[in-house]
Amino acid sequence: MPVSLSGTLRDDTTAQRGGRRCYVPAVNRDNGASDARGVRLAVLASGTGSILEALIAAGLPVRLLLVDRPCRAEDVASRARIAVARVIRTSYGPDFDRDAYTREVVRRLQADEIDLVAMAGYGTVLGAAVQKAFPDRVVNTHPALLPAFRGWHAVEAALEAGVPETGCTVHLATLEVDEGPILAQERVPVLPGDTPAALHERIKQVERRIYPAALWSMIDDMSRARDTRSKRGTA
Ligand code: GRF
Repeated sequence: MPVSLSGTLRDDTTAQRGGRRCYVPAVNRDNGASDARGVRLAVLASGTGSILEALIAAGLPVRLLLVDRPCRAEDVASRARIAVARVIRTSYGPDFDRDAYTREVVRRLQADEIDLVAMAGYGTVLGAAVQKAFPDRVVNTHPALLPAFRGWHAVEAALEAGVPETGCTVHLATLEVDEGPILAQERVPVLPGDTPAALHERIKQVERRIYPAALWSMIDDMSRARDTRSKRGTA
């Protein structure tokens, strides 16, 4: 079963840490920013959180970081006084209950009254419940020019294929991994002698620019739709 945690110092037996005490960043609902345009954004991450950093720096209304494992992104959120929720993935094997895990993620997002969900290097593929709860409101950034090089090793795959350029894609997430309507896409050249790390970093530099812009554009649309509904008295 997935486990949700939030607080300060807890026994983290769910992350195969042998029951060691570990730091869980404190939940802080008042992160000092106003609820920009009333839209509440959650970011899902599993890694270093450099994309999360860019979303925060762009002034997006990030109200929650949700992680599936302990990761540096938690420190990024903590420093920005953004609430952190851990829904720890306890299995990577065939016994992983994706639907139960997804239901727990959805429960946590709804508890924080989230409107829009942005995946930023999140390592777990979620099931149908998230699409049902947030239709057309789950966004992803992928380090390749979709539909080319889907999957977790997109940068390595582009290098191995010897393509002269790759890039990044911001898209609405659907049930199919790395598919869905494209919101923004930009090319990045592959340079002689590129390593996966060097190429990925150049791709991320672009993601840190186009992802915030795409999310702001969605928030503008959501906000305009709300205004229209409230003017018509149908909000
Ligand atoms: C990004 O390249 C994103 O497209 C991919 O994971 C990376 C996350 O980077 N899905 P970081 O952990 O935020 O630095």
